Amino acid sequence: MENLSEFEANQKDLIHILHKIQAEYGYIPSQALSSISKHLKISESEIFGVLTFYKAFSLKPRGKHLVTICTGTACHVRGAPMILDELKRQLSIEPGETTEDDLFTLETVNCVGACALGPIVISDGDYHGQMNTREVNKLIKKIKKEIKE
Ligand code: FES
Repeated sequence: MENLSEFEANQKDLIHILHKIQAEYGYIPSQALSSISKHLKISESEIFGVLTFYKAFSLKPRGKHLVTICTGTACHVRGAPMILDELKRQLSIEPGETTEDDLFTLETVNCVGACALGPIVISDGDYHGQMNTREVNKLIKKIKKEIKE
């Protein structure tokens, strides 16, 4: 039991540390893994496992604005593929990529637990439900306008 609570404490510390690094740098630099590993006495592969499990963490630098579209089943049947196409067209990138000017990163996610409101697009943490291509177009234009101001 003692080992289990130690493991849980380390996991909590790990997630806390990863959140702090992500907030500061916008991603988790690979150099950080060995420092965390030494500090918490857990292997780099365990840290990597946590990093890949939680979509909130990124190993690659992200753009200033993160746009995520849910491509889970409920959102898919409600039109997510068309919205994703529109996002790709608007931003000229594929999911997982960042625009050359480092302003936008486009990502996909599988279900965010708001299926009844799908299709869902999340921009910088804000959830937008019942999206369609027109609305997503407006959303990107709005963000681009805010960038210019
Ligand atoms: S499938 Fe998109 S929120 Fe559940």
